[in-house]
Amino acid sequence: MATRLLLVLIGVWLDSASAAKLGVVQTEGGRVEGKSHRMGLFRTVEVFQGIPFADVPGKWEKPKPHPGWSGILKATKYRDRCLQVTLLQTKTQGSEDCLYLNIFVPQGRSLSSNLPVMVYLFGGAFLMGASNDVAILGDSLYDGKEMADRGGVIIVTVNYRVGTMGFLSTGDARLPGNYGLWDQHAAISWVHRNIEAFGGNPDNITIFGQSSGAAGVSFQMLSPYSKGLFRRAITQCGVALSPWALQKNPMALTKKVARKVGCWRRDEEEMLTCLKMSDPVGLTMAGKIDVLLILGKGVVMDLLEFSPVVDGDFIPDEPSKLFHNAAQFDYMAGVNSMDGHIFAGIDVPSINNSTANTSVKDVKGLLAGLTKEKGDAAIESAYNLYSSHWGSVPEPAMMKKTVADMETDFLFLVPTQIALQLHANNSRGAHTYSYLFNMKTRIPGFPRWVEAEHAEDLQYLFGKPFSTPLVYFPRHRDLSKYMIAYWTNFARTGDPSTGDNKVPVPWPAFTKHHRPYLTINHKIRKSSVSYDLRSDYVSYWTEIYSSLLSMKREEEAETEN
Ligand SMILES: *[C@@H]1O[C@H](CO)[C@@H](O)[C@H](O)[C@H]1NC(C)=O
Ligand SMILES: *[C@@H]1O[C@H](CO)[C@@H](O)[C@H](O)[C@H]1NC(C)=O
Ligand SMILES: *[C@@H]1O[C@H](CO)[C@@H](O)[C@H](O)[C@H]1NC(C)=O
Ligand SMILES: *[C@@H]1O[C@H](CO)[C@@H](O)[C@H](O)[C@H]1NC(C)=O
Repeated sequence: MATRLLLVLIGVWLDSASAAKLGVVQTEGGRVEGKSHRMGLFRTVEVFQGIPFADVPGKWEKPKPHPGWSGILKATKYRDRCLQVTLLQTKTQGSEDCLYLNIFVPQGRSLSSNLPVMVYLFGGAFLMGASNDVAILGDSLYDGKEMADRGGVIIVTVNYRVGTMGFLSTGDARLPGNYGLWDQHAAISWVHRNIEAFGGNPDNITIFGQSSGAAGVSFQMLSPYSKGLFRRAITQCGVALSPWALQKNPMALTKKVARKVGCWRRDEEEMLTCLKMSDPVGLTMAGKIDVLLILGKGVVMDLLEFSPVVDGDFIPDEPSKLFHNAAQFDYMAGVNSMDGHIFAGIDVPSINNSTANTSVKDVKGLLAGLTKEKGDAAIESAYNLYSSHWGSVPEPAMMKKTVADMETDFLFLVPTQIALQLHANNSRGAHTYSYLFNMKTRIPGFPRWVEAEHAEDLQYLFGKPFSTPLVYFPRHRDLSKYMIAYWTNFARTGDPSTGDNKVPVPWPAFTKHHRPYLTINHKIRKSSVSYDLRSDYVSYWTEIYSSLLSMKREEEAETEN
């Protein structure tokens, strides 16, 4: 009896020890109610899943405002991802009714207010992915609870259209393209208009993203439509300048899709009418990656076809000419040291095969694929640079690592360094920060020289070593703590070293004349700050390579049709 009374009393105490709660929140479309998740004593994260930020979009149309709803929307379930091919490219998943977002609000004893807000754009080659992608032991990789709770920020994750439905374009006013970018813009705008009701500060929004999501962040920064909409931006492993981030010949791709769905017509108007009447599932399948196509010729990069275009509107010009628009935002950017490894392993399989050696012919073959718009001169000059540290009898492992470095540089690192420079050179007062993430890979079976693989940063940023502690070691929790601190400090103050969260070392700003970067792993100390990341390689690709004459790739593509 006494024990029971005690239990009841403890129950009452626990109940009153729980954190504050928003309960029902009034948004522009109607009322929503989420669900509280306990994170600790007096600490919860209130989660709202599946709030519509736009109406069901028309095919290849900009998103439209949501008509709203009556009653209380139970925001306790993720909604469908946007229609897309599955990872194995064998069928589709998702729905056209997909423009929803999710909000994670940290709560303490009293209701949160005026919190910094971080809006996340998922990656997936502009072809796949969702705000709640990749479930690991139950929760999505992008679950915002740990970041929100540990960083004291509101996390928002959003859906946007991908693949054929998100990015098909004729390169002119008939089908301008960039629907997925307009979705991102609509989501960020919704957050700007509504986040105050959730305890967020609409003037303190940071957008962040990884891979194609990072390129999306970069495009949002460069668009004239973003003025005043957010304040800061973070790109992880992708920028608008990445060679895979911009489709330069969208009409050729549209014709290819038309052929696959039986809409190919000599008359372009008839072809477009047919495409507009075609079944979205068939159109989406027509956008799948044909891996067999590249075995033996070309490189993986060539398969990443659906991407934003210069539409003269949302993206009015070549990305490199739009950095004046980005000057207003604080900017943090970086890459993983082996971002290109996964792609290099497809293009040159021998690099991951311990019983095979990678030959000079393999290396030159990859360079030929990457540099084909410049021809033979580029292959020789790039080869000379990349083999300059090999010595007369190169170690097999060194050659293999060089192959991964080439793809990392070309696809990720060099474009990111140029974006950082252009940002710093255009900035008037806004800050710029550069990092290199090089935590050793956790993927079993890779050769010993493999460091941080593409996307391996995300598990630490989203606090997985805390939410699923059994599959991580203490060093992973250290790294996770550091990343959450730097990222959320940046969202709060514009400086990753200043804010509520303690960081191991100050991270100096990247400027027009000084180019420091922070190397991020589980042991961050003074010596983790270095200067001029891979500057010999950056100057090769930006100066020597770009001065080589182009081979007129677009004309070739035209005559193919
Ligand atoms: C952003 O949030 C931080 C922390 O809450 C606050 O100090 C800062 O003044 C805010 N900035 C603006 C523009 O409101
Ligand atoms: C690795 O290379 C060896 C020797 O060239 C070859 O026999 C084997 O099939 C390769 N393994 C894989 C998995 O490709
Ligand atoms: C790979 O190269 C190393 C050193 O150059 C050599 O000892 C080894 O026999 C080679 N392996 C194969 C499978 O050719
Ligand atoms: C940025 O400015 C510096 C200093 O003037 C210059 O050396 C560098 O080339 C510029 N970077 C770009 C990408 O324009």
